[in-house]
Amino acid sequence: MTAIKTYIDQNRDRFLEELFELIRIQSVSAKEENKPDMTRAAELIKAYLKKAGADKAELFPTAGNPVIYGEKLISEELPTVIVYGHYDVQPAEPFELWDTPPFEPVIRDGKIQGRGADDDKGQLFMHIKAFELMNKTGTLPCNVKFMIEGEEETGSANLEKFCRDNKKMLSADVILISDTTMISADTPSITSGLRGLSYLQVEVTGPSRDLHSGLFGGSVVNPCNALCNMIASLKDGDNHITIPGFYDDVTECSIDERTEMAKRPFDRKKFMESVGVTGLDGEKGYSDTERIGIRPTLDINGIWGGFTGEGTKTILPSKAFAKISMRLVPDQNAEKIAKLFEKHFLSIAPAGVRVKVEYLHGGEAYVSPLDTPDYQAASSAIQESFGIKPIPVRSGGSIPIVATFEKVLGIKSILMGFGLESDAIHSPNENYPLFNFFKGIETIPLYFKYYAKLKH
Ligand code: BES
Ligand code: MN
Ligand code: MN
Repeated sequence: MTAIKTYIDQNRDRFLEELFELIRIQSVSAKEENKPDMTRAAELIKAYLKKAGADKAELFPTAGNPVIYGEKLISEELPTVIVYGHYDVQPAEPFELWDTPPFEPVIRDGKIQGRGADDDKGQLFMHIKAFELMNKTGTLPCNVKFMIEGEEETGSANLEKFCRDNKKMLSADVILISDTTMISADTPSITSGLRGLSYLQVEVTGPSRDLHSGLFGGSVVNPCNALCNMIASLKDGDNHITIPGFYDDVTECSIDERTEMAKRPFDRKKFMESVGVTGLDGEKGYSDTERIGIRPTLDINGIWGGFTGEGTKTILPSKAFAKISMRLVPDQNAEKIAKLFEKHFLSIAPAGVRVKVEYLHGGEAYVSPLDTPDYQAASSAIQESFGIKPIPVRSGGSIPIVATFEKVLGIKSILMGFGLESDAIHSPNENYPLFNFFKGIETIPLYFKYYAKLKH
């Protein structure tokens, strides 16, 4: 057994108990009532970093939740890796759909179950334990800095400023992140790209109060009807988005790139089964994986208005609302897309309603080059621990701050995630297989080993 495996083996139960303690803290960044939990989670991580061997670990207050910065600098001659992760989680509702309480983590069928088990407490925690392992076994081969935030799930509103204010402290060669998925343990993969995001809320107002739908309906424009028509018109029969200029900045992938990407295994039937649908649909001219990985989309995240209570009420509502998000690809800009959306959406409003569009948050897409020591180190590390060479996969998910890191700090990120699509992140019964958790802890020191070697 290697020294890495021995250390993990001897500390398995403690690792899990410590992670459980972190999952028990309800650090839901979207909720005001959880403010004290945010600081509690940050303090616990700071303590974990110190115990793991960090020379320095501090909480940096921001206008929102604190950022934890930690470091162990061993030599100016050696490269520096920043580990990024987030301690905030998505709300756990609807609670009744969980088989076990979301903030009382348990092991079930070989998986850690609880909110944040994967995204991102479980994955972030692997890095803290890998760091501890390297320190305790005297194998840390380069400098490490930790930057751990508590606002990723709400758009990282204060991390750009933190980066700008602390540029010198954050100087490094690469940012290493485990906050994404791989295809499976049999087909390990590295996330080579993330989509961007532009998130909006729209409000359509008709009459100044809810009206009797018999006395007024048919003549007064119904804002719920209007909103549905407007949204429906945002895609044509080929599922192309109709907002003028929407595709202007989209960088098309070359045929060669698409051919290479198409080699990744994808089982359409299993995919449909896994989400409980009997058919798939999307933009004409692209495969299922391309529709997710390399094409922009527009989705309603929620839509409401009028009467939604029990029974019936015959009204013509005064207002209708929707939360709409667009996933973006290189080189679309989130704010520019939001402006194009707003201009178009206002222009298609029928007479008789007023429309308000509010930009909530967003960020740009990210693509990771494959011919760098940064990527090669991840590839070699996974090849050594999983016994299979990983393939690059463009993910449909977003971590908007990754593009900001490149813009503000000038540092590229490597997305070496160990989650699975079946981990139900953001959903009830979020889980993280023990196998992936411990494999991650085993792989991260190998990343450092290869990275230090390749950068020398
Ligand atoms: N860790 C996820 C993103 C992710 C998961 C990327 C799996 C690739 C594979 C992250 O915490 C997340 O949920 N991001 C949000 C965006 C954020 C601004 C709310 C997303 O993708 O919806
Ligand atoms: Mn995440
Ligand atoms: Mn998330």
